[in-house]
This record gives sequence, structure tokens and C-alpha cells, in this order.
Amino acid sequence: MTANVESSEQKTALVTGASSGIGREVARQLAQCGWRVIAVARGEERLKQLAGEVPGIEPRPADLTTFPYPDLIPSRVDALVHAAGIVPTGSVERATPEDWSSAFTLNVTAGAELVRLSLTSLRQRRGTVVFVNSGAGVTPLPRNTVYGATKHALRALANGLRQEEQEHGVRVTSVFPGPTDTPLFTGNVDRARLIRPSTVAQVIVNAITAGDDTQLTEIQVRPRQELSW
Ligand SMILES: NC(=O)c1ccc[n+]([C@@H]2O[C@H](COP(=O)([O-])OP(=O)(O)OC[C@H]3O[C@@H](n4cnc5c(N)ncnc54)[C@H](OP(=O)(O)O)[C@@H]3O)[C@@H](O)[C@H]2O)c1
Repeated sequence: MTANVESSEQKTALVTGASSGIGREVARQLAQCGWRVIAVARGEERLKQLAGEVPGIEPRPADLTTFPYPDLIPSRVDALVHAAGIVPTGSVERATPEDWSSAFTLNVTAGAELVRLSLTSLRQRRGTVVFVNSGAGVTPLPRNTVYGATKHALRALANGLRQEEQEHGVRVTSVFPGPTDTPLFTGNVDRARLIRPSTVAQVIVNAITAGDDTQLTEIQVRPRQELSW
């Protein structure tokens, strides 16, 4: 069965963070558009539940902080969405080297490694890479210096990769969501005012399906009314 699926003409996306929040909505929306979606996260049960709800989604449970990544990358990759992310302990005063290391490994290195492993197919397909960044990737706040540093690095990764891959036809998008109603956001606000994860996902799908003559390089997604917390 795998061989048949792998050789099919179906557009294929690799989506990390697919067990929850923004990544799960991206997986859902792409599958509803007819894509084959390789859904990656640690939470196998939540991936299976999603796959049971939406045809076209294939669970690939994996901890992206553990290298190498055997059996993760399909032979065809038209789009890669790196949505998996963590928010580590905030300040330099409190963060340990392990906090720094685990945050950079998941938020940055994992994204780069997934691109590296998918690059041959991404070039063949003139595919799209989307890195889910954050407002903290543009303006870090005192309480999230470590997170902000990872997201600034992720922006640099995206900008560098875009230049590297220009001649190969791979396009690279950074999406910078503001506060979004997922388990990751724990700020003390009226949650009804948060951005819905499906709204962020729609923006990501738009970047992937944008006309072949363009690439959406950086997209800020802010709440309708700005929040402070
Ligand atoms: N929510 C916000 O307000 C907000 C704002 C700006 C940017 N973002 C960014 O949006 C992205 C998605 O976050 P979200 O808000 O959707 O959060 P979420 O609902 O907590 O989802 C995070 C995802 O990352 C996965 N993940 C965590 N550790 C992992 C690991 N070691 N290996 C593999 N997967 C792992 C989780 O799955 P498992 O636990 O099953 O592994 C989950 O699917 C993140 O990059 C985040 O920085 C979020």
C-alpha cells in the first residue's frame, strides 16, 4: 500500500505539530483540499484521532528532538510546514543550558533537518516550506527571551534558505502569528479575542497554494484587536 501511495500523483505535505493547535488545523485543511498529509508529532493517539476524522492524513509519531529521523520523510514532498514548537522558560536569569538547547533543537534545528531530508523532492516539485514563527520572532518580550531567540533564529533560517533555494525553485514562507487560541498560549486574556488556529492555518494554506509566479515571504497574522497580557 505504501508503494502505491508513494508513487501517486497526489500532492503531499509534511506537517509537524499536527497533533494540536495550528499544525492540526493545517493538516486538516490541506487534507480537505485533497492533499496527502504526513502528520508528525509525539502524540500518537491524537494523530490517529485526526486521521480518523479526515481522510488523507497519515500519522507519523515522532519526537523531533531525537535524531536521526528514520521513516519520517515521504518520497514526494510538495510542502513542508514546521509548526511544532515549544515555549521554554522565559528569562536568561532562569533558563538553563538544557532549556536553551531543547528549545533550539525543536523550534529551529528540527525544521532545518526536515528541509534537508526533503530537499530533493521539494526541488523536483518546486515546493513550499512554511516555518510557523511568532510575533516573538520580530519583537521579543522580556518574559520570553529564550523563545524569542529561537524564533529570531527561525526567521534567519527562513531568509537564508530562501536565498539558497531561489535557483532551485523552492519557496520559503515565514508566518508570524500573534496570540492564538491553542494549548501553547497561556496568557491571561479573554480567549475569545485570540486568533483561531484555523485562521492561521488558512493563511499557511494560502502560502502553499499561492500562484506559481510568486512566493509569500513573510506574513504577520495579528488579532483583530491587539491584546496585552
Ligand atoms: N499559540 C500561540 O499563541 C502562538 C503564537 C505565535 C506562534 N505560535 C507558534 O505556532 C506553532 C504551533 O503552536 P500551537 O500554538 O499550535 O501549539 P500547540 O497546540 O501546543 O502545538 C504544538 C505542537 O508541537 C508538537 N511538539 C511539541 N514538542 C514536540 C517534539 N519534541 N516532537 C514533535 N512534536 C512536538 C506538539 O505535539 P506533541 O505534544 O504531540 O508532540 C504539538 O502538536 C509553534 O511553533 C508556536 O511557537 C503559537
